[in-house]
Amino acid sequence: MKKNRRNFIKKASLAGVAVATSTRVFSEDLSTISILKRNYSSADKAQLKVALIGAGGMGFANIDTLLKHDGVQLVAVCDLYTGRLKAAKKRWGADISTTDNYKDILKQKDIDAVVIGTPDHWHKQISIDALNAGKHVYCEKPMVHSVKEGHELINAWKKSGKVFVVGSQGLSSLGNEKARDLLAEGAIGELNYAEGFWARHSPVGAWQYAIPKDASEETVNWKSYLSNTQSRPFDAMRFFRWRNYLDYGTGMSGDLFVHLFSSLHFITKSKGPNQIAALGGLRYWKDGREVPDVLLGSFSYPTTKEHPGFNLSLRCNFVDGTSGTTYLRIVGSKGSMDVKWDEVVVRTNNISTNDPFELAKMKEAGMLVSDRKKILPPSEIVYKAEKDYKGAHYDHHGKWIEAIRTGGTVVEDPIFGFRAAAPALLCNDSYFGNKFINWNPETMKIV
Ligand SMILES: NC(=O)c1ccc[n+]([C@@H]2O[C@H](COP(=O)([O-])OP(=O)(O)OC[C@H]3O[C@@H](n4cnc5c(N)ncnc54)[C@H](O)[C@@H]3O)[C@@H](O)[C@H]2O)c1
Repeated sequence: MKKNRRNFIKKASLAGVAVATSTRVFSEDLSTISILKRNYSSADKAQLKVALIGAGGMGFANIDTLLKHDGVQLVAVCDLYTGRLKAAKKRWGADISTTDNYKDILKQKDIDAVVIGTPDHWHKQISIDALNAGKHVYCEKPMVHSVKEGHELINAWKKSGKVFVVGSQGLSSLGNEKARDLLAEGAIGELNYAEGFWARHSPVGAWQYAIPKDASEETVNWKSYLSNTQSRPFDAMRFFRWRNYLDYGTGMSGDLFVHLFSSLHFITKSKGPNQIAALGGLRYWKDGREVPDVLLGSFSYPTTKEHPGFNLSLRCNFVDGTSGTTYLRIVGSKGSMDVKWDEVVVRTNNISTNDPFELAKMKEAGMLVSDRKKILPPSEIVYKAEKDYKGAHYDHHGKWIEAIRTGGTVVEDPIFGFRAAAPALLCNDSYFGNKFINWNPETMKIV
């Protein structure tokens, strides 16, 4: 008995090793790395004069990226805090003009285009005024501060004939483009589910930005800042940590879910979900903020000619001990794709076909054998951007200026931008209103 048992254990463990080894070899054989490349065209480089409105963190990042493209000149900067205007001159030269009134910039005839990097509550009005003044616009996400602002901006853009792009740069990346092609080719079978999250755990990650020592009504044009919303006494927190307050920011969903919607809609060619629900809570960063620091969103996407019906789950956690992760996974009947801006990993199921002769022999030897097919670890294909890839942000600006120069169009126009912003903004309506929301992604209206 003992000997038989020893033999059995030996055979079983040998079989285990054999499976593991062959799986490893098998998966190594199947695991391929493909390099994604971008061919930059060297067509029209007509000179473009641009101005920045809202010169904070993202405004600076946008201009630095834009200036890496040939033929672009920064001529003016607008901001409501004097410290940012000084920093702009230091970064880009004393000859740029500066102002705290964006209308001064829109009056300048020689400016072709503006980049808007203000807090969310100013996006709609500055965009509309810029389009009406004949400027091309790069406006940061989310395109609008509330769903009721979307159509007004879309209409202004349609009338203007200008190129308007929203700043969710990820969808211009090599990774997002490859994911879109792979899904269309059926690499993961029929789409049924997607999920994404943002995890952080740091004061800056949770929007507790430094307040400059000189912050006061002397250095901040507080009156202008509030002129399109509720009047309040000066409050540096509300100015420099605007994301935490609903008058100016749009919470975790408007700030972060919107990026995931933009990428997902680009990859799946979707117009958006028709059902939206959000839950969450303020768990840790209890600093007077009005928005949650943990948020979960659930969404249903209807069947359309572009894709089958599917579900989406998004979450954001600013108290995540693992910290610093972003993730978008798209799941189909044959496998899944993990999508980043510079990489796509496709995993597809591998079902082993057991050799009947081998099975019979194993049974004869008294081994426990199941006739069920075994699922082997999935095979994996990795698509990686080339080493010198300039990145999503560079590409996004590149596509915008190319469309301006050639009279072309961009993917993330105001209709696309609103379809990505609306379900994100409606998460706030769902969370604060404690209700499910029905949305018509075709007409872009609440049902
Ligand atoms: N695409 C991305 O990856 C990305 C990343 C970060 C932020 N953003 C977006 O960029 C925008 C700015 O975010 P941020 O992190 O740079 O904020 P920030 O606070 O660093 O910068 C905002 C700037 O706008 C200025 N401002 C406020 N109201 C103004 C007005 N009416 N006119 C002119 N200037 C005004 C402020 O003084 C400040 O300097 C937000 O909409 C945000 O969602 C996008």
